[in-house]
Amino acid sequence: MKVAGKHYRSIWAEPDRSAVHIIDQSRLPHVFETLRIDSVEAMAEAIKAMRLRGAPLIGVAAAYGIALAMNRATTDAAISKASSELRATRPTAVNLAWAIRRMRERLKDLPGAERAQAAWTEAQAIADEDVALNEAIGRHGLALIEREHLALKRPINILTHCNAGWIATVDWGTVTAPIFMAHDKGIPVHVWVDETRPRNQGLLTAWELAGHGVPHTLVTDNAGGHLMQTRQVDLVLVGADRVTRRGDVCNKIGTYLKALAARDNAVPFYACVPSPTIDWTIEDGIEEIPIEERDPEEVRVVRGLDAEGKYSEVRIASSATPVANPAFDVTPHDLVTGIITEKGVARASERELLKFWPREQHSQAYLT
Ligand code: MRU
Repeated sequence: MKVAGKHYRSIWAEPDRSAVHIIDQSRLPHVFETLRIDSVEAMAEAIKAMRLRGAPLIGVAAAYGIALAMNRATTDAAISKASSELRATRPTAVNLAWAIRRMRERLKDLPGAERAQAAWTEAQAIADEDVALNEAIGRHGLALIEREHLALKRPINILTHCNAGWIATVDWGTVTAPIFMAHDKGIPVHVWVDETRPRNQGLLTAWELAGHGVPHTLVTDNAGGHLMQTRQVDLVLVGADRVTRRGDVCNKIGTYLKALAARDNAVPFYACVPSPTIDWTIEDGIEEIPIEERDPEEVRVVRGLDAEGKYSEVRIASSATPVANPAFDVTPHDLVTGIITEKGVARASERELLKFWPREQHSQAYLT
């Protein structure tokens, strides 16, 4: 997508493969900066500190992290060390573990001398595939929006939570792909953007939508129920950090409350999910998905621009105030109307998901 007229991906490798560049999301949308990352340690720090974020993007970043590690040493021990360091950064989005596993599979039987080149090629392939997955999700989501528009014959109001936009992926975004495509096709859409405390990922979504000219309105996290009750939402579209094989959707904290309100008001609730986000090893998301607990300071301190337009932080709660900061929640499959994948829209059930990814395609360990 474009930023100030220039095309960007959220992550890209230097042509000589000495480093990777990312859009640094830590001060977005207030400050747009890119960052050069030249070691696996720096990549792990960037993931942990959420300089880059979003399930698909942290998977791609981990793949590049292993490639960076291979620039220094190509032993089995180096692969294991890089993998552990990257895996320890964030526990919830399964894309991270998926990408690390794919990289290890690719490298394990190669002689040391071939590993660096293979690692960069594989990481690049994962990045390019991510763009294609989002584009395909976009086409399936577009059909859904188009259908709503044909039925309602007025602008379609979509509510979204967190940021599942192009900077949460390599390009397009999972939730924003259908929205961008609908807008480009002349289907009138308007997006209610949840602010998404405490990290305010909604501000990133608003920035992306503004960049593409899509009408949108930023709302507080508590507004969604009211908007749905007053018939101002036609469709809820959210991303996912991990989806279980029966279709439980783990996403940014607060998603579950939106699904409850959507069910109570008969508003369709869809998750936009590329296949690397599906964890076939687990069934019950509430029991089995590890929920990341983040730094309490994220809740106590807000960030933005001061009166002089300078980026700054303001403490809204004393550092002595006890804080809980669970970063994700799980929406049970029965509250999910459908899952928009790169292969089409599936109902949130194991049977339906297996229609797109038949059992024989999964290794024994992956689908128990
Ligand atoms: O903590 P974050 O900002 O990495 O969480 C991101 C989300 O929850 C997104 O909605 C999800 O990763 C989908 S991104 C396509």
